[in-house]
Amino acid sequence: MGPAGATYDFSRRVIAITGGAGDIGRATARRFARSGAAVALLDLPDRPFESAAAELEGAAERVLGVPCDVTDRAQVERAFERVVERFGRLDYLFNNAGYQGAFAPTDAYPPDDFERVIAVNVTGAFHVLAVAAAHLRETGAGAVVNMASHAGVRGPPNMIAYGASKFAVVGMTQTAAKDLAPYGIRVNAVSPALIGPGVMWERQTRLQAATGTQYFAPDAAAVERALIASVPLRRLGSLEEVANAVAYLMSDEASYLTGFNLEITGGI
Ligand SMILES: NC(=O)c1ccc[n+]([C@@H]2O[C@H](COP(=O)([O-])OP(=O)(O)OC[C@H]3O[C@@H](n4cnc5c(N)ncnc54)[C@H](O)[C@@H]3O)[C@@H](O)[C@H]2O)c1
Repeated sequence: MGPAGATYDFSRRVIAITGGAGDIGRATARRFARSGAAVALLDLPDRPFESAAAELEGAAERVLGVPCDVTDRAQVERAFERVVERFGRLDYLFNNAGYQGAFAPTDAYPPDDFERVIAVNVTGAFHVLAVAAAHLRETGAGAVVNMASHAGVRGPPNMIAYGASKFAVVGMTQTAAKDLAPYGIRVNAVSPALIGPGVMWERQTRLQAATGTQYFAPDAAAVERALIASVPLRRLGSLEEVANAVAYLMSDEASYLTGFNLEITGGI
């Protein structure tokens, strides 16, 4: 048992987190920094990854912010080289960067946005996984958690691109788990459902309300209430509850789990 709330000892471990300036990325970074890990936060150049890094425990010696657009293979390669140069190794990857996309029924869904969602959530996640895997092989062990979504388990209305992309993440997780098992690298996914407060929860309730479809009331507060009423535990999951699941899957206590998709749904 480490310091308050830190249930695993990740000291001498190095984790890279993509989407590291976002809500879940930052919560997970805090969780790992508190448990002693060195943490690299990767995110788009215009995102506040430097300040997200600076707020972490052990910031001076054990934290690094790296600009990286995951859709650009060369940037991903350079970013992971920087992580390994700085910390000497890579033990864990949280492949978490994501874009929620537009909200519209299938026949009205904007094609260019569909391509953008797939570029970030599928192609980007593939680049990150492939590049990080080479470094994890050097370490000779390690673990990956890919960020899927409950939208990758049951397709939600008005989110055809996001749903397709997260089903793909679950599929990539199963294949990568097989491909990397010979090197002792475990690959799992997490699939949160309704998580908040945060950017995605706020955006999703506002934009679902605006779709004017039969599934959602036209005002965001009513959408919020209806969505929460669909959760057996009758509340949103917190950012920390996602981070806790990621920590468990990375930890040695999950040593026989690979190719698994952990749904974090409050019982949906
Ligand atoms: N919040 C939820 O309810 C929820 C539920 C299920 C799954 N997820 C998934 O969790 C992940 C994190 O979401 P969040 O809630 O923290 O949202 P967020 O918007 O706060 O974080 C997403 C991060 O990804 C980054 N990103 C987007 N495109 C990128 C790119 N091309 N290169 C590098 N970084 C990029 C963004 O800049 C942002 O910091 C996403 O993959 C999301 O799909 C979220």
